Amino acid sequence: MSYLKRVPVPVGTLSPRPCLASDAPVLDLSGQWRFRLLPTADGPADFASAGFDDSGWEIKPVPSHFGTPAYTNANYPIPVEPPLVPDENPTGDHRVTFDLPPGWPAGDAALRFEGVDSCGRVWLNGVELGVTFGSRLPNEFAVGHLLRETGNVLAVRVHQWSPGTYLEDQDMWWWPGIFREVRLIARPAGGLDQVRVQAGFDHETGLGTLTVDGAEVVSGPDLSRPVRPWTAETPYLYDVVIRSGPETATIRVGFRTVSIEDGVLKVNGRRILFRGVNRHEFHPVTGRALSEEVMRADLELMRAHNVNAVRTSHYPPHPRFLDFCDELGFWVIDECDLETHGFEPFGWQGNPTDDPAWREALEDRARRMVLRDRHHPSVIMWSLGNEAGVGRNLGAMAAAMRALDSTRPLHYEGDRTCEHTDVNSRMYAPHDEVAQIGQSTTRPFILCEYGHAMGNGPGGLSEYQRLFETFERCQGGFIWEWIDHGIASERGFLYGGDFGEELHDGSFICDGLVFPDRTPSPGLAEYKKVIEPIRITRDGIENRYDFRSLEGFSLRWGYDGGGGGELPCPPLRPGEQAPLEVPPGSGWCTVSALDPAGHEIAWGQWQDSPSRHELPAIPDGPLERGPEVRLDVWRAPIDNDQFGGRPPKLAQLWRDAGLHRMKQRTISLDPLRVRLAPAAANFGLLATYRWEPQADGSVRLEVEVEPDGQWHVPLPRVGLRFALPASLGIAQWFGGGPGEAYPDSRQAAKMGLHRMSVDQMQTPYVFPQENGARIDVRWASLTDSGGNGLRIEGDTPFLFTARRWTTEQLDAARHTSELVPSDRIWVNVDAAQHGLGSGSCGPVALPAYVLHPKRLRIALRFVRLGNGV
Ligand code: GAL
Repeated sequence: MSYLKRVPVPVGTLSPRPCLASDAPVLDLSGQWRFRLLPTADGPADFASAGFDDSGWEIKPVPSHFGTPAYTNANYPIPVEPPLVPDENPTGDHRVTFDLPPGWPAGDAALRFEGVDSCGRVWLNGVELGVTFGSRLPNEFAVGHLLRETGNVLAVRVHQWSPGTYLEDQDMWWWPGIFREVRLIARPAGGLDQVRVQAGFDHETGLGTLTVDGAEVVSGPDLSRPVRPWTAETPYLYDVVIRSGPETATIRVGFRTVSIEDGVLKVNGRRILFRGVNRHEFHPVTGRALSEEVMRADLELMRAHNVNAVRTSHYPPHPRFLDFCDELGFWVIDECDLETHGFEPFGWQGNPTDDPAWREALEDRARRMVLRDRHHPSVIMWSLGNEAGVGRNLGAMAAAMRALDSTRPLHYEGDRTCEHTDVNSRMYAPHDEVAQIGQSTTRPFILCEYGHAMGNGPGGLSEYQRLFETFERCQGGFIWEWIDHGIASERGFLYGGDFGEELHDGSFICDGLVFPDRTPSPGLAEYKKVIEPIRITRDGIENRYDFRSLEGFSLRWGYDGGGGGELPCPPLRPGEQAPLEVPPGSGWCTVSALDPAGHEIAWGQWQDSPSRHELPAIPDGPLERGPEVRLDVWRAPIDNDQFGGRPPKLAQLWRDAGLHRMKQRTISLDPLRVRLAPAAANFGLLATYRWEPQADGSVRLEVEVEPDGQWHVPLPRVGLRFALPASLGIAQWFGGGPGEAYPDSRQAAKMGLHRMSVDQMQTPYVFPQENGARIDVRWASLTDSGGNGLRIEGDTPFLFTARRWTTEQLDAARHTSELVPSDRIWVNVDAAQHGLGSGSCGPVALPAYVLHPKRLRIALRFVRLGNGV
């Protein structure tokens, strides 16, 4: 097992090739294999022989993972002594028997592994072939001479820990396995092995240039002729048939040219703007083993939310994913399988990135990625890796990549001086720093990660977008990240620590724009609105696409006071604007832009006159008294409160201040005046309550709140809380919706009349936390199915939350299954809430969204509906 003791370079593998769909026969070996789990790496290798009896082994689908998932973000879960790994090393022995399909050609064949985590020792028919390294890169072995017509036995021993572990410290589950396909591919002599296809576009002449090395072009566009260029917005592909010797393949070619001109990243001569996400491969049941349907569905969901770019954080994705990106139209930053973050705690000492002994291993990964993926038009930039420190081997990687492909710029966030790379990249830079960079950078600048989507948030996205639109060289960014990596279970989705890991980073693995089951979170709705490529205001419409015209789009308009219809959409070219002639009407006017398929891409809204929905309700009868209200300042901390800012973190500051345990002292009774303060504190809030029954049977309440003493922390919220019977489970409101919104994440909230059940108002963040507020609410009602209940009207807009458990229960829960409906509905009507920010990794709420204790007035009217409460 010397391969576990030296730097991770594949043993016995073939030179890397692109993954082309050719007419050479292929046998997909995916399916039910035999499997046994061993605790150490050095079990007997007897299982490799054809005659070995595996009938007692379990049956396991391949691709899949094995063993127990374990989560750490940056720390290595093994002692750090590269390249060595501990004896305790979960090892999966896999076996499968296969026959060759009839007519399988004699001659060479490649056994191709698309992904084995972290390394696999391979035997065919008892003959040892070698060892795979590079979990997210293909490894091929020559096996033609070993094949039999029937009864071939493939045996693979996969180790969880290997020298490769040191290069694969990405923030995700440690979860070994043969997690991508294994295939046998016939390799006809003289076939398509070292093919290279390049398709450029000259935007000045409109000519495409196709260069094919290592093969002849059988059919396809002429080598130099006018073409329709490929862009992420206009993903036009040409089928090109290429041949070498007896092998023919059809490749889908997109003509485009990437350049950097005057510090601006351009495609086909135009600046592009990334509206991106970081995508890990993840499924809540199958882990990193993904079906094609899931890959495609992800891209379709992204596109439906105006996302136009993917950074393949932090490794090359499944090769089919890139086919779908070519076809559906995405800008892709293809990132190499390299992260050594666990060296950071030692000041990066011993980091393979700067150790000459590891140079070959790093270069090898760089080369294999480029050779696998360089024919994809969607890939417009290579990334050397992520959080791997700095060092000489990055230079070697960059040189290796440039030697194989000089048509794409290089990216690596850790290369702050752009010694080896072409674009200036940062992660989580706060807004003011982005503005500074925008003013001074001489290169294209991207936020390869921003807007940390952990739990409720991120806030502050629209402020970033304004910067990207202001500074030409600030070319957008990639939200961290696409999906929560929660693992499905009856307890809700599981995260770090739920598998008994000794070392773990808890729910930090759940920080996506979609939940583990791929339901969009409110953060994704917000992102969609913030990055919308068409801007609609009362003044007009603007095309903010980079390449696409608005031909074929339509506009839909409507007033909440009634009236609506369709308008012709001016066929604007990118950057053009036109006025909008919306017919007059009353109330709130909403204009939406629909793409040719009828999907809403963007919308604008404004108020022309008071809305009829804003009129006070006529009570259905007198209300004896209003609900028992209590002034409330606490929220179940969101992840951004929990982790935000410098220590002590915001949630800790709040708990230390005692905001979750405020005590009340009555000062006077008429009007009721109270002082609310935590034990051991000399600060608090004074509140005066004035109840006033109204002639129409409704009841008015005015609450004045003022800070008392010296406050040194912001407030989570200021509002009133009260309980209603559980039967009033239907919510309706006029205000922002339909989804949740907070002061710094509210662009997606559309003013209107919204109705849903209290249960539907909950956002099931994997780690329970404050959620579900609706913003800008003018009135809200809670009723039973017969329409009996209560309506709450505000003098001024409020935030409205209703849930079947208390804030304290929400605060105490660790998994969603712990949230059990009580016999009450708890309602919060807030004058204000602290912003969300992105503090779980990145900037806390911007100053404008910090809720400083201040004088506030909440004035409400309670109205009986039907039989009342
Ligand atoms: C970044 C890192 C990501 C992820 C993120 C936090 O530093 O590149 O992989 O760990 O922070 O969620």
